[in-house]
Amino acid sequence: MTGSPGAPADTGANTGLKLDVDGAVATVTLHRPERRNAMTPSMWRGLATIGDSLPPQVRAVVVRGDGPSFSAGIDLRLFSADGVPGEDLADPLSPGFADWLERLQAGFLWLHRPDIVSVAAVRGHALGAGFQLALACDLRVLADDALLCMKEPALGLVPDLAGTKPLVDIVGLPRALELCLTTRMVGAAEARELRLAEMVVPSADLDTAVASLVEALLTPDAATARATKKLLAGAPERTLEQQAAAERTAQAALQRERRAGGSA
Ligand code: CAA
Repeated sequence: MTGSPGAPADTGANTGLKLDVDGAVATVTLHRPERRNAMTPSMWRGLATIGDSLPPQVRAVVVRGDGPSFSAGIDLRLFSADGVPGEDLADPLSPGFADWLERLQAGFLWLHRPDIVSVAAVRGHALGAGFQLALACDLRVLADDALLCMKEPALGLVPDLAGTKPLVDIVGLPRALELCLTTRMVGAAEARELRLAEMVVPSADLDTAVASLVEALLTPDAATARATKKLLAGAPERTLEQQAAAERTAQAALQRERRAGGSA
C-alpha cells in the first residue's frame, strides 16, 4: 500500500480496488465500473487486507464506487457454470466454510473500528453485498439517484456479509424484516427517512459533500474522536446507568492519556 493517488491497493491480486491515502483520509474505491462494481471474494479479502494494513495516521475512510453504481453486489457469474476466473465460492456445507466466510466478513467489519470513522459515498445502485458494504460504514451519504436493496433472500441466501446487525440497529427489526423479505429497492428519499442516509445530495455534489463531511468529522483530535466513537458504539448494549459509568471511565482515561502525552 503506497498511498499514492489512485494506486491499486496492495492486496496481492488484481482485486478491483483502489486505495488513496491523503494524510488522515483514506479513500477505498471499488473499481470495476464496467461490471457496476460487482464484487468477488478476492475483493472482500482485498478490503480486509486494506483494513489490516491501514497506515496509522488514517482517521477517516471513504468507501466509494467508480462509475454510475456504488456496487451491484456479488458478481453473479460466480453462480454460473463458467464462473469468474481465479475466484471460488466455498461450499456452505464444507468444513472450511465458516473460516472462509469469516475472512470475507473481515473486509466489512474493520470499517466499524473505533480509531477511524468510515463514510460510504453511494451513487446509483447499492445492491446485496453493495448495500452491506454501505452498512459497514459508520455514515452514509447518498446521491439522490441512490437505490438500496438487500437482494440476497431473492437468491435463496441470507445476507451474510455483516450487514444484518447495522441494518436492524438503524431501521429496527420490523422494517429490516420487511426490506429483506420483500427485497425491494429503497430510494434516496426513503433511505433518509429510515436513517439509512445521514445526507442526500445531488449526484454531482456527492464527492464535495463527502469531503466537507469528512473534514468536519476530523475536527476533534484523534484520541477524543476514538474515545467518543467507542463510548457511543457501546451505548446500545448498556443501561442508562451503565452508560453513565462508561462516560466517567472514558473521560478519566482520555484525560489521563492526554496528560501522559503532555498536551493538557
Ligand atoms: N454481476 C456481474 N455482472 C454484473 C452485475 C453483477 N452483479 N451487475 C451488472 N453486471 C454487468 C452486466 O452484466 C453488464 O455487463 P455487459 O456490459 O457485459 O452486458 C454490465 O455490468 C452493466 O450492467 P447493466 O447494463 O445491467 O447496467 P445498468 O446500469 O443498466 O443496470 C444494475 C445496473 C441495476 C445494477 C443491473 O446491472 C443489475 O440488476 N445487476 C444485477 C444486480 C444483482 O442482482 N446483484 C446481486 C445482489 S445479491 C448479493 O450481492 C448476494 C451476495 O452478496 C452473496
